[in-house]
Amino acid sequence: MSKHSEPVRGVVMLSGASRGIGAAIAQRLYDDGYTLSLGVRDPAGVAPALAADKERVLIERYDAFDPLSPAAWVDATLARFGRLDALINNAGILLEITLDRGDDTALDTMWEVNVKGPFRTIRAAMPALKVSGKGRVINVASTDGKRYRPTDSVGYAMTKHAVMALTHAARFDGWESGVRATALCPGAVDTELIARFASASPVADRLRPETVADTIAFLLTLPNNATVAELVLNTRLEPSL
Ligand SMILES: NC(=O)c1ccc[n+]([C@@H]2O[C@H](COP(=O)([O-])OP(=O)(O)OC[C@H]3O[C@@H](n4cnc5c(N)ncnc54)[C@H](OP(=O)(O)O)[C@@H]3O)[C@@H](O)[C@H]2O)c1
Repeated sequence: MSKHSEPVRGVVMLSGASRGIGAAIAQRLYDDGYTLSLGVRDPAGVAPALAADKERVLIERYDAFDPLSPAAWVDATLARFGRLDALINNAGILLEITLDRGDDTALDTMWEVNVKGPFRTIRAAMPALKVSGKGRVINVASTDGKRYRPTDSVGYAMTKHAVMALTHAARFDGWESGVRATALCPGAVDTELIARFASASPVADRLRPETVADTIAFLLTLPNNATVAELVLNTRLEPSL
């Protein structure tokens, strides 16, 4: 069966599909037959092969700095496809700030993109995810959301810990309506996000974005009675992680 004749699965909203992990997730879910609503700042950043499939791929504006864009993105998705089955909050940024270095405006900027963006998008999407009966929320958190280790950004770790709390709130909010939420916590992934940070794992040890995408594809296949609240994909040996 060719990829294009595979049965359509559910409708998935994915943020940050322009590059890095998000681009890999978009490609993998497209290949698996999902219908995609890609939330991006710049539509030109989406892979041309996906952008060309107007039947199965909607590209909408999503900018975490704009408080109105999550609801507008959800509305556009429902107007186009009539349903929503999964939301993957992937877009995120990493700015340097520690207790002794950096400008604390980095805290506000990361809070906006890494936490408030997903918060607003979950809020906007939850009613439709509940209607699905098998709605899914996957938040791309980080091992930095699971523990603290000295790095270049305590602020990033703070936002990723907040994403863990947000994920658990979504689990409780959606449970009775079949919504299942997962915080996916990768260690270092070989993308631009960490390219300049010396404290990240060596390049050869980093996860491939495709491995994170494979994991998300697997999570989406699980039934409502096989819920995964948190999933850590570590690249290094750490106590309990
Ligand atoms: N790389 C790692 O080691 C690693 C490890 C664990 C978790 N993560 C998490 O994985 C997720 C993806 O990271 P990545 O490594 O793929 O990073 P990346 O290659 O830098 O890509 C970041 C993505 O986020 C989008 N984005 C940035 N600011 C945005 C905003 N204001 N509004 C909407 N979208 C915005 C970017 O869109 P533009 O193209 O428009 O800038 C891009 O698509 C992030 O949440 C990150 O924290 C990464």
